[in-house]
Amino acid sequence: MRRKLAAGNWKMNGTGAVLAEIEALARTYPQADVDIVICPPATLIHRAGTAARGSAVTIGGQDCHARASGAHTGDISAEMLRDAGASHVITGHSERREDHGERNETVRGKARAAMQAGLAAIVCMGESLTEREAANTLDIIAGQLSGSVPDMATGENLVIAYEPIWAIGTGLVPSPDQIGEVHGFIRARLERRFGAGVGRSVRLLYGGSVKPDNAAAIFAVPNVDGALVGGASLRAADFSPIIAALGEA
Ligand code: 13P
Repeated sequence: MRRKLAAGNWKMNGTGAVLAEIEALARTYPQADVDIVICPPATLIHRAGTAARGSAVTIGGQDCHARASGAHTGDISAEMLRDAGASHVITGHSERREDHGERNETVRGKARAAMQAGLAAIVCMGESLTEREAANTLDIIAGQLSGSVPDMATGENLVIAYEPIWAIGTGLVPSPDQIGEVHGFIRARLERRFGAGVGRSVRLLYGGSVKPDNAAAIFAVPNVDGALVGGASLRAADFSPIIAALGEA
């Protein structure tokens, strides 16, 4: 049985004032039947951890460096995130692949560093609209999956987020069949590479325009173990019903 996971990616949004949203979430979910992770900007990780203390809400980073330390001005290591109170870190989000030219190999190094530091890596992948229209989605996913996921992956240290680029921040959502096809494909590939035990224990999240009103339909799709939520995770009032829908799925 895979435990469900609701993850929020705040991206480059939020200063100290938004910690009230984490406090509100923590009040709503002192305990929960699902895992809840909020990934705020790095500047807020420590304070977010304090705001969430004693609740079911845990905190994650949005990126990490592949090395543990060294001359990498402006970067943050997985160890530092863990030290600041994070339990998870997102790696290979399409915005980082695009804004910072991160390739699969880079993402794999970051995910490995996260796992070595004792964090769970939420490895993101997804096709562009052009790639989907050219019927290349599964090829793209196959390449990102084999290239971005380290060999040391387990059901505890790896989460995969399927995020079609064209669905991020657009209000467009793939059909349940389209999500199911990709999630089923990822599951089969994980089982083939890591064996049935590990392959079946890795959680697969869907991400891209998940909102309170479409969450239940998405969570009903086979092999969807939760969501990576952007905009709708910024306010507890929007994220709470998504968490509730996941708990009921
Ligand atoms: P939205 O939920 O805002 O579409 O963002 C999805 C995303 O990129 C989460 O990582």
